[in-house]
Amino acid sequence: MAVKIKVESEEQILHRKLLRLWQRGQSALCEVRGSDIHGRGVYATACIAKDAPIIEYLGERIDKRESQRRGTRLHAKSLKTGDAAVYIFTLSKRYDIDGNFPWNTARLINHSCNPNCEAWIVGRKIIIHALQNIQPGDELTFDYGFDVDCYADHPCLCGAANCKGYIVSRQQWPELDQRLNGVSPAFRA
Ligand SMILES: C[S@@+](CC[C@H](N)C(=O)[O-])C[C@H]1O[C@@H](n2cnc3c(N)ncnc32)[C@H](O)[C@@H]1O
Ligand SMILES: [Zn+2]
Repeated sequence: MAVKIKVESEEQILHRKLLRLWQRGQSALCEVRGSDIHGRGVYATACIAKDAPIIEYLGERIDKRESQRRGTRLHAKSLKTGDAAVYIFTLSKRYDIDGNFPWNTARLINHSCNPNCEAWIVGRKIIIHALQNIQPGDELTFDYGFDVDCYADHPCLCGAANCKGYIVSRQQWPELDQRLNGVSPAFRA
């Protein structure tokens, strides 16, 4: 029996790989739309049950030194132009994920002080999961976990009833309260 071998060109291989990456960055549970919080956001297109996996946060695995370099560069650019966002996500003590790729739909998920999602590290992957039951049309959000030291650089427009006014990790809210109330951390009880 004759076997037909199909030889792909380099262009076709690249196209196939990009298509696979693009598909991996999509989810039947959500889509990108203009956001009330900021720019574009990601919205649920179906009922999503608490703890359900929604979408993978794709990107390049980089070490902390490279992450620091990219983060500083992008942050400086964003302060200047207002249009460059940082898409770096903590993966482990040694590595981060830089999600600044067009096929990484999850990079467009905005922050909220009352988030309905959270990121779980599953092996070497970052998967966005539902923190609660989510209805179709709800914007997906998670806690960016930004450090309180940079709070003034990141005003929050999430619109939640409990919005702190700044994008700061929920764990550091007591510290943020101290700073906003003008009490130096050095004088805390
Ligand atoms: C990773 S991007 C998220 C996608 C972004 N909406 C876009 O259209 O590119 C992160 C940037 O979005 C903006 N952003 C996200 N959540 C926000 C919030 N709650 N309040 C204000 N800006 C927010 C900030 O400028 C932040 O640096
Ligand atoms: Zn907020």
